[in-house]
Amino acid sequence: MCGIVGYEGTREACDILIDALSRLEYRGYDSAGIALLGQGEIRIERRKGKVEELRKVLKGAALKGSIGLAHTRWATHGVPSERNAHPHRAGDVVVVHNGIIENYLELKEHLKGAGHVFISDTDTEVIPHLITDHARKGRDLVDSVRLALKELKGSWAVGILKESERTLVAAKNQSPLIVGVGDGEYFIASDIPAIINMTNRFIFLEDNDMAIFKGRDMRIINVDGEDVVREVRQVCWTAGMAEKGGYSHFMLKEIFEQPQAISDTLLGRAREEEGEVEFEGVDLPDPAGIRKIWMVACGTSHHACMIGKNLIETSLRIPVETDMASEFRYRDPIVSPRDLFIAVSQSGETADTIAAMREARSRGASTLSICNVLGSTLAREAENVVFTHAGPEIGVASTKAFTTQISVMFLLTLCIGKRLGIFGPQDVRERLREIRAIPRKVRSVLDEAPSIQAAAARYMFFRSFLFLGRGINFPTALEGALKLKEISYIHAEAHAAGEMKHGPIALIDDDMPVVCISPADRTYKKACGNMEEVMARKGNIILISDDETHEMAPRAGEMITVPRTAYELQPILSIVPLQLLAYYIADLLGMDVDQPRNLAKSVTVE
Ligand code: G6P
Repeated sequence: MCGIVGYEGTREACDILIDALSRLEYRGYDSAGIALLGQGEIRIERRKGKVEELRKVLKGAALKGSIGLAHTRWATHGVPSERNAHPHRAGDVVVVHNGIIENYLELKEHLKGAGHVFISDTDTEVIPHLITDHARKGRDLVDSVRLALKELKGSWAVGILKESERTLVAAKNQSPLIVGVGDGEYFIASDIPAIINMTNRFIFLEDNDMAIFKGRDMRIINVDGEDVVREVRQVCWTAGMAEKGGYSHFMLKEIFEQPQAISDTLLGRAREEEGEVEFEGVDLPDPAGIRKIWMVACGTSHHACMIGKNLIETSLRIPVETDMASEFRYRDPIVSPRDLFIAVSQSGETADTIAAMREARSRGASTLSICNVLGSTLAREAENVVFTHAGPEIGVASTKAFTTQISVMFLLTLCIGKRLGIFGPQDVRERLREIRAIPRKVRSVLDEAPSIQAAAARYMFFRSFLFLGRGINFPTALEGALKLKEISYIHAEAHAAGEMKHGPIALIDDDMPVVCISPADRTYKKACGNMEEVMARKGNIILISDDETHEMAPRAGEMITVPRTAYELQPILSIVPLQLLAYYIADLLGMDVDQPRNLAKSVTVE
């Protein structure tokens, strides 16, 4: 999705902004632009394509200025092109925007009637025109922006720069925007990794906030013009965490970071000696009074929810309903004040998940978010938050977020089970021992990377894959298929293995590899039956199992063995070879692994 960065300080802004923009590339985009205000006028450069294209143009352009804005655009209204790229300008006001202005057609008609001329197809362009329209009536920038924002419907994070007042304004509503606080300088950005090399002190703007930067000073007001106070918070992420650190891609680095990420998730929470799990600062409702738990999310986080459902229902016997956030809010869900609503999101900024949580809250449910990003909207808005502590995830295809989310869900199940009296200290201790061993076991799967890479070379030219799993292994199959299609553009679909006979079996022939996730659990025999059916149709099986002597192993085209663990934790181990398989196939095919086409890391519009 679109990325915004801005700078107000004493240094030359051009390189700072372009560097920050490259750190936002992972969010997904199709064009980029920059506006700088030097001693004279604002100068703008925009290019279709990569930030690198913009950087090349800027080399010769000698754009100077210590106040500026830059933007990566992910097209919503209007094709990717230089004309539609941000910043957009009207008079001496320029704007960069992330979000969607829902009433832009109406506003555009009205503004055209007042003599404004539009040159792009974007919804964004109405914003600078609205601002200049108010300025024409003698208002200063701050008042003009306030009034303009009140006329907008939809979602926005905006950076606004006005030449004549040498003022920068940052404002947001339902799209993320943060302020980085440096020494005598300020930054604005869509997220932390963009500017973590500049500062680790941030202000997380709230909806309807406007941060105004003028002459090295900053103040924050709301759209009604009242002063508001926002805390400056220090984050423990470092610049190195948001760099590739010798790996060829962020995705590969993040796959290999999983042992550490899971250890960090457990840190301070898994208290093995006492047989306790504690989430500091989390005050959950009395579990005995919970009627139902909702687990709602998008993409990979939704797959983690499906595993969470399995964990919680099996152990706690509390009904759990999972849903895709984009579906939940539009189906008039039956939510009661006795429900616990768990929103799961790596970024904490996924628009549908935020909307779903607001919907559940408005219906009286208690809310808990499982998030990775401090200060994110979901983390701020939920009554309780449990952070995954996975560190920044930059690769578009989510990996360590998934395994740390499952780890949190496992701990949460223990914590609630203990309070319900289902687990005694000894039960908790035994289960904690299992999860404590997981980082080591993940490491041993990672040691198999060379053989998985070799397998990838054998399978990279197939154009379609089927993934099958039963029970808790079905979400793993969904996640494995998602990884493959996201980054390699190979068609991949996943089914609950038992459903294969009801349709997918028609697809099977010798040109269709079938990835079967079949640990030695309660679904083993049934999964073997499904594999027999695949083989009877000349299907080529890639078997993932914790059972080296799996009865189907001799006939599988490929077998990847993972260590054994508790039933509930097996998905953490089974997904790792599938992440690696997808990564190596995409890399061997020469795909842009970290920034796959059309995808965005953080989907901040509905
Ligand atoms: C996008 C990303 C996925 C991610 C999903 C949910 O689609 O490309 O990798 O799983 O959003 O993101 P969240 O930040 O809410 O977990």
